Amino acid sequence: MIELIYLSIPLSIMSILITGVAGFIGINFLEYYFNTYPEEQIIGLDKFTYAADKKGLKKIMIENKDRLEFIKGDLQNFELLDYIFTKYDIKSVVNFAAETHVDNSIEEPKIFAETNILGVLNLLTVAKKYWLINQKWLEGARFVQISTDEVYGSLERVGLFTEDSPLDPHSPYSASKASGDLMVKAFVDTYEFPGMITRCSNNYGSHQHLEKLIPKIISRAINHQPIPIYGDGKQIRDWLYVQDHCKAIDMVHKNGTLGDIYNIGGNNEWNNISLTKKLLQILSQKLDDPMINETLIEHVSDRLGHDRRYGIDSTKIRNKLGWQAETSFDVGLNQTVDWYLKKFDDKPPH
Ligand SMILES: NC(=O)c1ccc[n+]([C@@H]2O[C@H](COP(=O)([O-])OP(=O)(O)OC[C@H]3O[C@@H](n4cnc5c(N)ncnc54)[C@H](O)[C@@H]3O)[C@@H](O)[C@H]2O)c1
Repeated sequence: MIELIYLSIPLSIMSILITGVAGFIGINFLEYYFNTYPEEQIIGLDKFTYAADKKGLKKIMIENKDRLEFIKGDLQNFELLDYIFTKYDIKSVVNFAAETHVDNSIEEPKIFAETNILGVLNLLTVAKKYWLINQKWLEGARFVQISTDEVYGSLERVGLFTEDSPLDPHSPYSASKASGDLMVKAFVDTYEFPGMITRCSNNYGSHQHLEKLIPKIISRAINHQPIPIYGDGKQIRDWLYVQDHCKAIDMVHKNGTLGDIYNIGGNNEWNNISLTKKLLQILSQKLDDPMINETLIEHVSDRLGHDRRYGIDSTKIRNKLGWQAETSFDVGLNQTVDWYLKKFDDKPPH
C-alpha cells in the first residue's frame, strides 16, 4: 500500500530523499536544510513510528510551503521505495530512518534488525537499481548512512575511537546499526556504490522523543516526578548539539569522499549524573522553582549490558571537510530547555 500526502511540488526538480524525516535528527536536518538552502526542496519518507514528531513535521511543512513532498511509508516496503525512485528522480539519499531506543532493542530486538539492517539493504538495492546505468554510476549520486558511535562499543576512561577502530557493538540496537553499516560497506566494496557513513555521538536538541535522557529529565523535573538514573549514573556520553550534527551531515553529503566513514563528536563528555544535576539547576533557575533539585534523582537497576563510555575522535572530518562543533553546551542546553518548556506550555507532559 502506497500512501502519499502533500503532493504539490513540480516533480522534475526533486532529487534528495531524506528518510526518517519526522524523527529527532531528521526534522532538525529538514529545518537546517530549508534555512541553509532557501531554493531547495526535499522528498521525505517516514513510517511514523511512536518516535516521530508528526506535529513538528506538519508545522515545518506549513512554514515551508511546497518545499517538502512527504511520503508516509516503511523502509521495508521495497515496492514503495522503487516507486519513489522512479517517480521522483532521486539523486541522493540521507538515511536517518531507524529504530533507535536501546531499551526497546533489549526487549524487542527483531524490529531493530528489520528496519536497521533489512531496511538499509532495501534502500541500497533500490538506489543501485536506479543509479547504476550501463555499468556506470549516475553522476553526482550519493548515499549517506547515518550511524552511531555505539557501533565501536565501550571505552575505558581514556582514549577515543577513530574511523579505523574495530566494530564491537554490545546492544541489539548498536549491533543492528553496525550491521547496516557493514551492508553499506559491502555495497561500496562490491559494486563501488557511492555510499558514505557518518558515526555521531549523543545528540541533544528540539523534537526528541521523551523516552530519551534529556527530554525525560526535563519532562519529569517540571512535574516534580522522580528522575530514574541507571546504576551509579557514571556512564559517560559525548554530547553534540543536533544542529551542529546537521551541518556535519550536510558537509559529508555535499563534499565527503565516496566510500569514507566520518566520526562526528562534540568533544563534550559528561557523565549522566553530572548532566542531570546541570539540567536540574537550569530548570530550577528558569522556573524559579526550588522543588526542582537533586532529591528528584532516583537510582534504578542498571540497563543490561550498559556501555560505560563512548568517545570518538573527529579529527578526520575537521581536517578533511573543515567541520567542528560550534554550539557551547550551555547555549545548546538552554535553547533545548526553552524549546521543551514552550512545548509543554502548549501541551503538558503526562
Ligand atoms: N539521537 C542520537 O543521539 C543519535 C546519535 C547518533 C546516531 N543516531 C542515528 O541517527 C538516526 C536518527 O536518529 P533519531 O534520534 O532522529 O531517531 P528517532 O527515533 O527520533 O527517529 C527515527 C525516525 O525514523 C522513522 N522510522 C523508523 N523505522 C522506520 C522504517 N522502517 N521506515 C521508515 N521510517 C522509519 C521513525 O518514524 C522516526 O521518525 C538513526 O539512524 C540513529 O541511529 C542518533
